[in-house]
Amino acid sequence: MTDHDLNETFAPDPAFAEQANVGADEYERASADRLAFWDEQARRLDWASEWNEVLDWTGAPVAKWFVDGTLNASYNCVDRHVEAGNGDRVAIHWVGEPTEDSRDITYAELKDEVSRAANYLSSLGLAAGDRVAIYMPLLLETYVAMLACARLGLTHSVVFAGFSSAALRSRVDDASAKVVITADGQFRRGKPAPLKAGVDEALGDSLPSVDGPAESVQKVLVVRRTGIDVDWQDERDVWWDEVVPGQSTEHTPEAFDSEHPLFLLYTSGTTGKPKGIVHTTGGYLTQASYTHDVVFDHKPGKDVYWCTADVGWVTGHTYGVYGPLSNGATCIVYEGTPNSPNEHRHFEIIEKYGVTIYYSAPTLIRTFMKWGREIPKSHDLSSIRLLGSVGEPINPEAWRWYREHIGGNAVPIVDTWWQTETGAIMISPLPGVTETKPGSAMRALPGIDISVVNGDAQEVPAEEQGFLVITEPWPAMLRGIWGDMERYRDTYWSRFAEEGYYFAGDGAKWDADGALWVLGRVDDVMNISGHRISTSEVESALVGHDSVAEAAVVGADDETTGQAIVAYVILRESAVDNHDQHRSLIDELRARVSTEISPIAKPRDITIVPELPKTRSGKIMRRLLKDMAEGRDGGDTSTLSDPTIMEQIRTKGTRG
Ligand code: WT7
Repeated sequence: MTDHDLNETFAPDPAFAEQANVGADEYERASADRLAFWDEQARRLDWASEWNEVLDWTGAPVAKWFVDGTLNASYNCVDRHVEAGNGDRVAIHWVGEPTEDSRDITYAELKDEVSRAANYLSSLGLAAGDRVAIYMPLLLETYVAMLACARLGLTHSVVFAGFSSAALRSRVDDASAKVVITADGQFRRGKPAPLKAGVDEALGDSLPSVDGPAESVQKVLVVRRTGIDVDWQDERDVWWDEVVPGQSTEHTPEAFDSEHPLFLLYTSGTTGKPKGIVHTTGGYLTQASYTHDVVFDHKPGKDVYWCTADVGWVTGHTYGVYGPLSNGATCIVYEGTPNSPNEHRHFEIIEKYGVTIYYSAPTLIRTFMKWGREIPKSHDLSSIRLLGSVGEPINPEAWRWYREHIGGNAVPIVDTWWQTETGAIMISPLPGVTETKPGSAMRALPGIDISVVNGDAQEVPAEEQGFLVITEPWPAMLRGIWGDMERYRDTYWSRFAEEGYYFAGDGAKWDADGALWVLGRVDDVMNISGHRISTSEVESALVGHDSVAEAAVVGADDETTGQAIVAYVILRESAVDNHDQHRSLIDELRARVSTEISPIAKPRDITIVPELPKTRSGKIMRRLLKDMAEGRDGGDTSTLSDPTIMEQIRTKGTRG
């Protein structure tokens, strides 16, 4: 890669700019009066009562946006489009994994479904503020369940269906969820795979990590998806199709306070325990709706919009549900993987439904690159008019490939930086306005203030790496970590406490042209295919094995997944002797991580080593392990307690 490559810019196409939802004045309008700007954006939504103040930051770092305003998120995503005469518009083109298994649902139908589900949930005696866990594949009922919760003020906690039962249990317990909504199973590569069985395991007392059954859970609502056999507890379990369809389609949504908690979403931090990120209603929905409109240049009634993220992640919440539906979008929801039944699937869907906006992740783009350009080439993708990327830094090569082979060399690409914590996009080009550079997220959106600073909170000069910080509160910002406000303050606000900056955990730099480059995490969080996993989470799963004394985990560069998990483990005395068994032990460890956390957390490499590199004070030097995992010759080992350690690891390790 030459310097020239990194400086190549793409100016917005004049024809695109001409029709874009916002123009260049958007930035100035926002910076002229930030709060007035957000006040104006909040008026995109229907409020039951207006706010008295745009932002109350006196309780910093806990913000209140649109103070005393009341609204219903579900009404804003569903009913109001029907009332505006758009009930016949398709809200979701649902595409099942088995080909030929699809269903379109209009906004009017969605309103009926959401109302029925809300009526059932309220018949259970749940009250606003109660938590509901949702552990489901991408089904229409998943969307209905989320919107029904929002309608009743029930705080949903979606748990990615690829997570293990242990992970589900810890999230259910942390939030004291009263209801779990799930499915009997899910289709994966043409075959039904059990899902409810995982819920049974999670809620029972069979997991090593739990002490007795989950006491908070009163009901498990089960969608029949695959028809596979399931175990049943009559007192606790109910089939969705036996209780929801018979409910009334009349349901009047109640308005909730702007700061009512809309959802929790657990994400990895630097310690083993996942954080329940709290998002509230008014500010979140405002920024979700605004950013979905301007970043994707979305035109309701014309565009066919596809965000490929699973609802188990924040992207699936903000750009799969709340952003697009609040804007009356027609969305694609696809249940399966990109290669079921073969690598053509995404392109067939784009072609069949005339997808115009496609929002996906670098890891998938790199997978498409591996599969080859012939695959997209054999489809008519000319409906696409905008491409988006999210989840990790997109390498310039993938960016160019995306533009050329999916975007026909013509369409804008928006590289969007944000986090579970930010709730909505913070840094991204505006497609009709901002010049783009392959690999750069460019600049903060209107109404958002960021900086790149050194450890002393001083803004760093161009081309110098610093910490990405957010310098002013924003509407969709998290309001805390569920049950642990101290951790909230500590994690995000203690680093630059004096300045009151939000510490994002990413490294970044400005280039000489003022474009922002996000350079990856500066903490112990790894990014595997756009999924956040902490090193200590994986380490605790490994040391939970009887044979393991100690483990150190690093994220190493990987061509396809961005980073891959590489683990180094020391065995307990008793397990060391038998070298023949090391390989099968490595397999066992990998399987253990998979069941403790998720298959996505499975280490790519595990090396059994005699010792780990530690400083004299006993701190593991992960940097040296990362160098080794990425094939670089060890850096400075002078601070190691034993300078020969790296050599021992290199020569004596068993790797698998
Ligand atoms: C972390 C947040 C936001 C939805 C998906 C991930 C990385 C995200 C980008 C991007 C460079 C990115 C950051 C961030 N990240 N988008 N466009 N360029 N890095 O949400 O699981 O909360 O992870 O993902 O490291 O901190 P998340």
